[in-house]
Amino acid sequence: MAYKDKNLRNGFGFEEGWVFGTGKYMIRSHLGSGVEGEVYLTEELDTGIERAAKFFFPSNTLSVKNSVKNHAQKLYKIRNCSEIIQYHTHEKVTVGGQKITCLISEYVEGELLSGFLERQPGQRLHYFEALHLIYAIVCGLQVIHGLGEYHGDLHDGNIFVKRVGVKYQVKLIDAIDWRDSPRANIKKDICDLVRVLYDLVGGQRYYAKMPAQIKEICCGLKTSVINRKFKDAASLKTYLENAIW
Ligand SMILES: Nc1ncnc2c1ncn2[C@@H]1O[C@H](COP(=O)(O)OP(=O)(O)O)[C@@H](O)[C@H]1O
Ligand SMILES: [Mg+2]
Repeated sequence: MAYKDKNLRNGFGFEEGWVFGTGKYMIRSHLGSGVEGEVYLTEELDTGIERAAKFFFPSNTLSVKNSVKNHAQKLYKIRNCSEIIQYHTHEKVTVGGQKITCLISEYVEGELLSGFLERQPGQRLHYFEALHLIYAIVCGLQVIHGLGEYHGDLHDGNIFVKRVGVKYQVKLIDAIDWRDSPRANIKKDICDLVRVLYDLVGGQRYYAKMPAQIKEICCGLKTSVINRKFKDAASLKTYLENAIW
């Protein structure tokens, strides 16, 4: 049997070795679960290439059906950003008599920022290292914001991170199309990124001890002040590149 519970009450729980997509893909392992669906490491059988497959829970509501399409279209729009996962295709599968859709995208090797931070001494980074990491994210966001687009759900569970040479390499997953004002969502991306920086340097407990350059960015987490100072990723990137120590 390919799944645990035909009523899908406990999610899909696909087993290793299950083949789907008219023989094209095989499940290797479970990567993660959330409210929208489940994500699996998948092998493209003809090529042996690893992909991530995100299976969306079935729903009769139009908004959820549209969300799969919106998700794919959004990833396509921002495909030139190398920090965002690349969309490949989508497949329809029947599970427990219900039609569900899955998105096949690039598989990201590495570690989520949440786990990476957990492994650091004191679960925090030196502020200068944190800025390097934020800089890698802001470079990706700059491309997305430059297209009038946004990520929409930026937090440490949607950011993959890897140290490569003297730099951080990041990959952003789980971009969301909220179907409302891009302008407002661009502002929210900046506030979310500032929040990531605040948490990376140790959060409330260490904030008072941070140098002025960090406080100039975090602005005590006051969203109106952050948005007045940094209108999008490009302006935050300019600040990071020119801060004098
Ligand atoms: N492309 C991917 N490559 C590797 N792991 C992934 C990928 N996409 C998702 N995951 C894993 O699955 C988890 C849930 O995926 P995500 O798209 O963030 O869904 P949710 O909407 O549930 O947050 C992630 O936290 C991550 O561990
Ligand atoms: Mg997520």
